[in-house]
Amino acid sequence: MGFPQHRPRRLRQNPAVRALVAQNELSARQLILPAFVREGLAEPNEITSMPGVYQHTMDSLKAAAAQAVTLGLGGIMLFGIPAERDENGSAGIDPQGILNRGIAAVRAEVGDDLVVMSDVCLDEFTSHGHCGVLDADGAVDNDATLAIYGQMAVAQAQAGAHMLGPSGMMDGQVGAIREALDAEGHLDTAILAYSAKYASAFYGPFREAVDSQLKGDRRTYQMDAANRREAILEAELDIAEGADMIMVKPAMSYLDIVRDVAEISPVPVSAYQISGEYSMIEAASANGWIDRRASVLESLLSIKRAGAEQILTYYAAEVAGWLKEGK
Ligand code: PBG
Repeated sequence: MGFPQHRPRRLRQNPAVRALVAQNELSARQLILPAFVREGLAEPNEITSMPGVYQHTMDSLKAAAAQAVTLGLGGIMLFGIPAERDENGSAGIDPQGILNRGIAAVRAEVGDDLVVMSDVCLDEFTSHGHCGVLDADGAVDNDATLAIYGQMAVAQAQAGAHMLGPSGMMDGQVGAIREALDAEGHLDTAILAYSAKYASAFYGPFREAVDSQLKGDRRTYQMDAANRREAILEAELDIAEGADMIMVKPAMSYLDIVRDVAEISPVPVSAYQISGEYSMIEAASANGWIDRRASVLESLLSIKRAGAEQILTYYAAEVAGWLKEGK
């Protein structure tokens, strides 16, 4: 070793020094809890592949939202599971559809104390499980889908959502939704665009969570895991179309994309720690193979470090509780 001796370990010698120099930290205000509400459910139903995560009844959803406020979370992202599905996903547009009723109930519960967000996508509502409507050949019809997204967005804004999360990866979806919202006077309803959303095997448990009807895959609309450059194009297009915030999804396996997008984005960048990321941590820690709490915190911190400001995570409430305890 030369002089002066470089000893990076000086700044790791005890928890106080480490805390002083820690570059990133988690805060509850930037955590967003994804939550599922299912039509016709009598009791909350635990999702087998996601232990600790539930399909909610309207009552248990309201309770989860109230708890999110108490914990100081940043937001709640709502997904609906309808009793009936059809080709066009019409339950997604219906003001009395399960998601729109869920939005209204949560908004009545939390007012402006929590950012109420909702999924603008047809996959939970279609009988075929695709994120858009199909054309005569059975392919996903981009532009026909945009018109429906516009109506869905207006219904969600009317129900009381502060912020909409278009997750279907149709081209032009942000612009179409912005235009539809503005035309109905919903100028303040914000858009959190799922800009760089990849076709991922790690969505598996979510498909159980929403009772997905999908056969096949979403590779004609979600991005290819092989591609990096394209994420910038998707982000730039969404920003040009009026996205207020953008998102990368999944988070793990795409942290390079989070970094790339964070470097160029003039709007806040979020990332979604998706169902499979949750399930893997749960399964490994249930086996005693990894330390659950440490793994959860490390996984979230890595997303922060990559450059995301907000994180959607099924751990949001639990982590906020830990942060409150000061652990
Ligand atoms: C589509 C949507 C999906 C997720 C969020 N929005 C599923 C998909 O694209 O197949 C996945 C979230 C997760 O896996 O936690 N509405």
